Amino acid sequence: MLTIGVDIGGTKVAAGVVDDQGKIVEHTLRPTAADRPDLVADTVADVVRELSAGRRIEAVGVGAAGFVDETRSVVRFAPNLAWREEPLQKKISDMVGLPVVIENDANAMAWGETRFGAGRGQSHVVCVTLGTGIGGGLVFDGALFRGRWGMGAELGHMQVQPGGRPCGCGNIGCWEQYASGQALVKEARELAGAEPERASVLLGLAGGRIDGEEITEAARRGDEVALRAFASFADWLGQGMADLAAVLDPGCFIVGGGVSRAADLFIDRARESFAARLTGRGHRPLADIRLAELGAAAGVVGAADLARQR
Ligand code: BGC
Ligand code: NA
Ligand code: ZN
Repeated sequence: MLTIGVDIGGTKVAAGVVDDQGKIVEHTLRPTAADRPDLVADTVADVVRELSAGRRIEAVGVGAAGFVDETRSVVRFAPNLAWREEPLQKKISDMVGLPVVIENDANAMAWGETRFGAGRGQSHVVCVTLGTGIGGGLVFDGALFRGRWGMGAELGHMQVQPGGRPCGCGNIGCWEQYASGQALVKEARELAGAEPERASVLLGLAGGRIDGEEITEAARRGDEVALRAFASFADWLGQGMADLAAVLDPGCFIVGGGVSRAADLFIDRARESFAARLTGRGHRPLADIRLAELGAAAGVVGAADLARQR
């Protein structure tokens, strides 16, 4: 049986036809306009039509970066996108005539990684996806945790820093302001602004506008500010995971998302930070901190599998 999984990102819609073993048999990509969330449903319908031509498709699962309601139909709120009470499920199913399930993007990734990737065989998985924001997904004893109203596992919006950086969600000091792609850029810009003489490689590469790619490249070339930005990122990541372990006691954390492509620059330090801050350390096993295995496909595979199990 085939289903289609769709992952709606800030700049593109990725979609694939997925079999019941989690294998993508065909896939496609479309650009999206971040400021036109009203057009996303049309783009999704378009990719579904393309991928379902000549095939029998059972259902469609869609991962979206926001707070999805308990009926898995409406994106009620999205901190980093313009969605407010967006009836995505109805819009898409009206256009494609198939059963459609909407899921939080990080939940879909966590599900994909637990079923078919780094979390296979694990009973208590906490997935942390590091992109523009921080996404979270919890899979316990084979079940995805959604909370009472579908909005559980918004790990990026734990408030970790009183009086800290403003967040897209309207609060202040959220974890995703300290350990996401966006956070890395903010930290590097602040540090480079304060001490440009320590950021010569970074500023040379960036030519005026510092972004994630330049920070990664500058860190690899030993730029002091870029390395400090990654160190701060790693410390905050470890701190957040230690707090999550205090509540959830998972057997493993899976770290994924776009920033995890630069994991060599932060993962060891994040593991040290986690171990140094974990409550009860020395008297409990340390959760394994693993990198995601499915990469960019995790969201597509996870959403498709959730649609199959709807
Ligand atoms: C949103 C989540 C989303 C995550 C990753 C966060 O800012 O609140 O819903 O899963 O970003 O996209
Ligand atoms: Na989530
Ligand atoms: Zn927030």
